[in-house]
Amino acid sequence: MEVKLAKTAGFCFGVERAVNKVYKQVEKGVKHIYTYGPIIHNEEVVRDLEAQGVQVLNTVEELQAITEGTIIIRSHGVGKRIYEIIEENGLEKVDATCPFVLKIHKIAEKESKAGNHVLIIGNSKHPEVAGIKGWCAESTIIETKEQAKKFILKNDRKICIVSQTTFNYNKFQELVEIISKKRYDISVLNTICNATEVRQSEARTIAKTVDAMIVVGGKTSSNTQKLFEICKEECENTYYIQTLNDLDFYSLQSMNSVGITAGASTPNNIIEEVQKECQN
Ligand code: F3S
Repeated sequence: MEVKLAKTAGFCFGVERAVNKVYKQVEKGVKHIYTYGPIIHNEEVVRDLEAQGVQVLNTVEELQAITEGTIIIRSHGVGKRIYEIIEENGLEKVDATCPFVLKIHKIAEKESKAGNHVLIIGNSKHPEVAGIKGWCAESTIIETKEQAKKFILKNDRKICIVSQTTFNYNKFQELVEIISKKRYDISVLNTICNATEVRQSEARTIAKTVDAMIVVGGKTSSNTQKLFEICKEECENTYYIQTLNDLDFYSLQSMNSVGITAGASTPNNIIEEVQKECQN
């Protein structure tokens, strides 16, 4: 079977940087290390870190209860309030927010200070979006066409549109187009991360040419879910797996070619395992 592995499969720059920062703290022998939320959307990596003493804090309340130790802020970033709590409680901070996300925080803060409304195109349940919202004085989150159509701003503020870094580019454009038709004073900043765009278009290109496509990534990883959607559009036999164990070899047996891609939070060793197994 011919195996086409996407060059952009796996950790992006921001995730690799964040994970390395956590391991660095472990290596230094730092006591009481916490990550605010799982460091990445990958259960394997989180479990490995937990085994080495890195605890995950899931809520603001849990964070507030911590009186000593180091808090690592993950690549998705957090709102301003979380930085304040860390400081108020006298905790150490390692900021692993991806620089591309930090850029959005800065935009959100600046636009808010200028009295503008920030419109975030993204998934309201995603922590990155919650983090961006946490830097806005006034904001709206829009994810669907229906929400875009219904959007009304009740005051006469200017609107600044930003995007969740992992949002689908075409969908972003579609939503911006709907909002642009309303007569608001709008500025649009495409803050979609290039890593996502490149990974998505490579996945689409490969999916068009293979009999089956395998998308590797955590269940809760939104960028992996998007990759799956894109590949499924081009290749009916697209499989979403978390690890090699989920792979249905029986279905692949009759295929002549298979493509492999993986979300931004999928470790290399898992991708390699899948690749090797397909080549056998
Ligand atoms: Fe950063 Fe882009 Fe990755 S925003 S965390 S490099 S997907």
